[in-house]
Amino acid sequence: MFNFETSLGQASFANPIFTASGCAGSGRELSQFFELTELGAVVTKSIMLKPRSGRATPRMAETPSGMLNSIGLQGPGIDIFLEKDIPWLRDQGANIVVSIAGESVEDYAVLARKLRSVSGISALEVNISCPNVENRGQVFACHPETARAAIEAVRRNIGGELPIIAKLTPDVTSIAMIAEEVVAAGADALALINTVLGMVIDTNTMRPKLAGKTGGLSGPAIRPVAVRAIYQVHEAMPQVKILGMGGVATGRDAFELILAGASAVSIGTATFGNPTAVMKIKEELKAGLIAHGFDSLKEAVGYAHRVEGNL
Ligand code: SIN
Repeated sequence: MFNFETSLGQASFANPIFTASGCAGSGRELSQFFELTELGAVVTKSIMLKPRSGRATPRMAETPSGMLNSIGLQGPGIDIFLEKDIPWLRDQGANIVVSIAGESVEDYAVLARKLRSVSGISALEVNISCPNVENRGQVFACHPETARAAIEAVRRNIGGELPIIAKLTPDVTSIAMIAEEVVAAGADALALINTVLGMVIDTNTMRPKLAGKTGGLSGPAIRPVAVRAIYQVHEAMPQVKILGMGGVATGRDAFELILAGASAVSIGTATFGNPTAVMKIKEELKAGLIAHGFDSLKEAVGYAHRVEGNL
């Protein structure tokens, strides 16, 4: 019997296929197509303290094998989210990973305090890497000091054992160095990678296509960047579990991230084209692992690091 179970920090999941934050809201639309309990977890859209309308439109542009977005963390704010989305997700029986984002270290502290006594949450994804903030200085994960401060604030205020998954950007010189900082600050696991900062110029209007000018690039175009980042971080800290993401569209793609060192995989952009992509990827991944002779997912995590004769 194949064992598909996985864990991130102290949280356990029946299988490694999660939604990616921002690509499925809180799962309502997906629940028309399959039971959310079929997923390893639903990762909610990063929620902020206050309601937020996001950036001006246009906010999306197609790119070769990818998509550029500049949503700007649109959302209802934590109070409405806790009142409407969490009870609904609990009713579905879903495994819930709540993603949070802040404009300041204090925002992260307040968000953590608001979540500390909420039941039914498996883990917190702390998004310190949104590329679509007005002030690039607010991309906490671009600097070791700010990355550390945001994670420390969550750790101090969340209380108890709720695992913290720090979401990092690949737009840095050394992602392994930032990863080491956030783990030292109290992160139990890492989400790798957020989108890659990009830009598209419309050659007819001769102006940037996105109102926000820059945006986050996702989709298959960034998968090699995700594989590289996961591989580097797993090599530096093999004991720290990774939720991998970045352009996964098939079970083969998910397998590639697992071989690099991911213990679970989030599916994002692929869901826009096919709402059942997550279910297809889950089945393909399981079949691929079995075809390669693995008895469990865990045996395959980081397999690409193992040297011949030491398997
Ligand atoms: C956004 O809402 O702008 C995207 C969030 C993110 O990439 O972290």
